[in-house]
Amino acid sequence: MNKVITKINNILITGGAGYIGSHIVEELVKSKNNIFILDNLVTGFKRLINKKATFIKGDIKNINIIKKIIIKNNIDSIIHLAAYLNISEAEKNKKKYNQNNIIGTLNLIKACKNSKVRNVIFSSSCSIYGNVKGSVDERKKPNPQCHYAFTKYKGEEIIKKYSKKYNYKYGILRYFNVVGASKSGKIGEIEISHNHLFKNIAISSLEKNPIVNIFGNNYNTKDGSCIRDYMHVVDLANIHIKVLKKIELSKKSTILNCGYGKGVSVNQVVKKFQKIIMKKITINFSNRRSGDVAQVYADTKKLNKFLNWKPKYNHLRIMLQSAIKWEKKLNNINFNP
Ligand SMILES: NC(=O)c1ccc[n+]([C@@H]2O[C@H](COP(=O)([O-])OP(=O)(O)OC[C@H]3O[C@@H](n4cnc5c(N)ncnc54)[C@H](O)[C@@H]3O)[C@@H](O)[C@H]2O)c1
Repeated sequence: MNKVITKINNILITGGAGYIGSHIVEELVKSKNNIFILDNLVTGFKRLINKKATFIKGDIKNINIIKKIIIKNNIDSIIHLAAYLNISEAEKNKKKYNQNNIIGTLNLIKACKNSKVRNVIFSSSCSIYGNVKGSVDERKKPNPQCHYAFTKYKGEEIIKKYSKKYNYKYGILRYFNVVGASKSGKIGEIEISHNHLFKNIAISSLEKNPIVNIFGNNYNTKDGSCIRDYMHVVDLANIHIKVLKKIELSKKSTILNCGYGKGVSVNQVVKKFQKIIMKKITINFSNRRSGDVAQVYADTKKLNKFLNWKPKYNHLRIMLQSAIKWEKKLNNINFNP
């Protein structure tokens, strides 16, 4: 499906041993490009590393490692995912998040100086928009409400700032909520510290009496729970490849929302989940998480126009089934992270 990306040869993926990164790598290795993964495995896992890619264990906080990789391997394109993403932890330990997400990104970009890198894709987040009421497009001025979002916003600023100076085009991708797993059954979300709804649901689906924790039930939404735009990780991975191809050919930078443009409430997700697993679920409502906005979903006009793109997995049932299937697989296999 993804043939050689014209003239692109060597692609570096930071965070390629993580959940989303491993799915992008799985799509990329179908091309003839050489794929290099830089990951310190802090929340990444050896079992997610694709054998067809070259893995380098290292940290983006170390600029010298990045420089060496870029020069030695003639890197021409970078997909930058390496980051910490625990919203609550970021509030408590801002310095740690600044070092990793902001300084790490700055290192990566500075390492591009005098190199052959001409395309940079950056994993940003819809959280940078802050308090929005529903659909949001890319022109909305960022207004991060939590520290994690602030680090992503700063990352975007760095990518934009150095683009002309270091002569690369960028694709800033603002992900909404990423869920599901590859059909291959080889990769999926493993890390639990991010506290993602679909992951928590999938874990509880294996229990006799599933219990699901929901943060806040008194939001100003149709059913009191938060509304989000969930996107299947394989659709998201394919967007990366298309955007990379497009910015290489058009020599134009872009910022794109990555969602399906549909708001789904947490309660709706849980109800659908009950139907699928055919078990009664006990819901534990806990306090709102600081930094969580009531509702946010993507305006996808720009994405659709830029890529002429159609999603393949945009059904709640497919996304939930995929997450549950992966969780089952994960629990039947002994593995050492
Ligand atoms: N999962 C989502 O719903 C979501 C939504 C919006 C944005 N994002 C962004 O997508 C990216 C990937 O997220 P994910 O869900 O795959 O999480 P993940 O934790 O699975 O992936 C992050 C990867 O980065 C690596 N990493 C972290 N710090 C590093 C460092 N200093 N040096 C080298 N490697 C490092 C980790 O080991 C891990 O493999 C992140 O930048 C995140 O902010 C994710």
